[in-house]
Amino acid sequence: MSQEKAPDDRGNVLIKYLLGPRDELIAAGRSVFECGDVEIGVFALDNDLVSWRNQCPHMRGPVCQGRIMPKVVEPVASDGTVEHLAFSEEDRHIVCPWHGHEFDLRTGRCIGRETGLRKVNLEIEGDDVYACI
Ligand code: FES
Repeated sequence: MSQEKAPDDRGNVLIKYLLGPRDELIAAGRSVFECGDVEIGVFALDNDLVSWRNQCPHMRGPVCQGRIMPKVVEPVASDGTVEHLAFSEEDRHIVCPWHGHEFDLRTGRCIGRETGLRKVNLEIEGDDVYACI
């Protein structure tokens, strides 16, 4: 995997890893990469890309390889009652394969806990996507 060094806006030196063409990452939906000694997951959401470290905050499980499913919602009727559960049309969650902690794929926030996934910044240059770590 090709890489180059670049300073961030705080002066820290980041390594940029070339992940591949944006269109291929979007088409794949989910891709997992090794960037040096860091594993990351890259996910396509609504024609956009988001990336997280493949390490669950619970016990470091490979969260980016977990099952992806729609968020469960409770539609409230006009009389205030909830008759059934439904799946969200927009929001996706990922479930850690080790112990089932669930995370919002767009925000990385853990559902029901004060923790979350660690974001990886992506840069797009031309058609190519880089992870900055
Ligand atoms: S390591 Fe992910 S839920 Fe435990």
